[in-house]
Amino acid sequence: MIADLWNASEKEKFMGTSTIGSSEACMLGGMAMKFSWRKRAEKLGLDINAKKPNLVISSGYQVCWEKFCVYWDIEMREVPMDREHMSINLDKVMDYVDEYTIGVVGIMGITYTGRYDDIKALDNLIEEYNKQTDYKVYIHVDAASGGLYAPFVEPELEWDFRLKNVISINTSGHKYGLVYPGVGWVLWRDKKYLPEELIFKVSYLGGELPTMAINFSHSASQLIGQYYNFVRYGFDGYKAIHERTHKVAMYLAEEIEKTGMFEIMNDGSQLPIVCYKLKENSNLGWNLYDLADRLFNEGMASACLSTS
Ligand SMILES: Cc1ncc(COP(=O)(O)O)c(C=O)c1O
Repeated sequence: MIADLWNASEKEKFMGTSTIGSSEACMLGGMAMKFSWRKRAEKLGLDINAKKPNLVISSGYQVCWEKFCVYWDIEMREVPMDREHMSINLDKVMDYVDEYTIGVVGIMGITYTGRYDDIKALDNLIEEYNKQTDYKVYIHVDAASGGLYAPFVEPELEWDFRLKNVISINTSGHKYGLVYPGVGWVLWRDKKYLPEELIFKVSYLGGELPTMAINFSHSASQLIGQYYNFVRYGFDGYKAIHERTHKVAMYLAEEIEKTGMFEIMNDGSQLPIVCYKLKENSNLGWNLYDLADRLFNEGMASACLSTS
């Protein structure tokens, strides 16, 4: 179902697994990229010990990528975000890529703002790069949030397996997949992108069970929850729920702006996340930390405020 949502091609053999969340899913996506890169590099005669392999990602990454790079001894090359570039900077990203790059990560839903990286434009850049080198580079999309949101709300947006160089994608079932915490997903567009040695075969539960996730035992309830929601709501149900949330976010952004006190940093037009800051010249006796404090006092601990 998920491969279908992400437009996996019938000509390829997609593979995937459930995980505990996107952190584990990103770890697996990263590991597959590292192993595949090593094989390609060795074949091309590159001295793989001369330099640390690297991963290219915007500075809006979630901490799981930092963990991945530390655990696996990868140099994390951060493409800086700034006021003009609130997602991956397409003018700069390719400056960070070289023959030691295991992959480029695009983010479909930056944790702090909800903005999407322009994965289609990134794919074009990578395609151009790959045409003039033997050291091919591919994209993993961290769609922790957008993976189960964009296909329903913006099905025409190309960010998934429709793009040639997107080889793997992760998402969290417990975000816009609408399941309670403990489930994520990672998929590869074709099994050739998931090195064999990362798939283990276990026989002691009867039959032969392939396992490629880091955690072996885990609760089945979230998987059943995910399956139940997909079947119960269907495509139209998810679309209706997400579109309603989208409208609420856009409405909130409009109303917050109308107060005249705030500058909208993100209006919820992609993920339904509204970010705003106090205007520079506001002469108020409070700031957004005070507002956050008040919301906590009222017991709304889940209210998320960007105070940047
Ligand atoms: C972009 C992104 N990647 C990865 C993660 C990690 O996801 P999880 O909490 O499902 O492990 C998050 C979570 O906030 C995220 O926003």
